[in-house]
Amino acid sequence: MQTLAVLSMKGGVGKTTVALGLASAAWQRGERVLVIDLDPQGNATMGLGVTNPEFTMNDVLADPRPGIAADAIVDSAWGNRVQVLAADRSLEHRNTIEGPLSSQRLRIALGNLPRQYDLVLIDCPPSLGEMTRNALHAATDALVVTEPAYFALAGAEQAVEAVDVIRLASNPMLNPARILLNRVRPTVAEHRNRTNELRETFGPVVLDIEVPERNAITQAESAGMPIHAWDSPAGRELGTVFDQVIAIMSPRKRLWG
Ligand SMILES: Nc1ncnc2c1ncn2[C@@H]1O[C@H](COP(=O)(O)OP(=O)(O)OP(=O)(O)O)[C@@H](O)[C@H]1O
Ligand SMILES: [Mg+2]
Repeated sequence: MQTLAVLSMKGGVGKTTVALGLASAAWQRGERVLVIDLDPQGNATMGLGVTNPEFTMNDVLADPRPGIAADAIVDSAWGNRVQVLAADRSLEHRNTIEGPLSSQRLRIALGNLPRQYDLVLIDCPPSLGEMTRNALHAATDALVVTEPAYFALAGAEQAVEAVDVIRLASNPMLNPARILLNRVRPTVAEHRNRTNELRETFGPVVLDIEVPERNAITQAESAGMPIHAWDSPAGRELGTVFDQVIAIMSPRKRLWG
């Protein structure tokens, strides 16, 4: 099962937005998606319209036997094609390392899920700590999100390195990281310079397609709607952008049903 972790060291760069945009693109393609919220802020959980879940990722990681994850999965407000393993503040408890298998807990928990998904998306918190390490041990793919800003280069470099360490040391299923630029305003000189700098440093690791800055993103998020259902020129533009991102990151379309 393809499992894509969306990560960055820096906060507020658009991890959750990208995770939800990709969930929306897969939803639009008619695929079955599981979104795993690994951030105690629970923004992906909120964006998918899940409120007061009975079980959260805190329960799943506290007791990673496979059946527990199955019990914690709930439908999103987008319908039963997009399901959620929710987060809330209690997930903070899992941020510390607990025992030798600490960073394998998510991978173990996801063994034997009750149904197959076309895509599993993991929304990471803004750090390369224990939650993100758990995500990378369970993932087949990693997408580093960055803004075209001054500290972006160093931050992206550290995130790509973190992916490499786990790939080479302990998760051979994990592909090399890709980088996605978010909140780009091409008319701003600073954005152009930082984008060029990032592309020169990382070459083809950076996706050609970039996510522009558009108010429609925040509007759709606060309405709890997939961006593909946001009926405005900016909504359609963003839908096309995320279609292209998912075509690169998850080219396999489901072949059944
Ligand atoms: N391309 C964009 N255009 C306009 N607003 C955006 C864009 N991307 C993200 N935002 C807004 O910026 C804010 C931060 O985005 P988001 O929550 O996705 O970042 P994050 O990296 O997940 O943050 P955190 O590190 O706190 O988890 C949100 O209000 C979101 O709606
Ligand atoms: Mg987030």
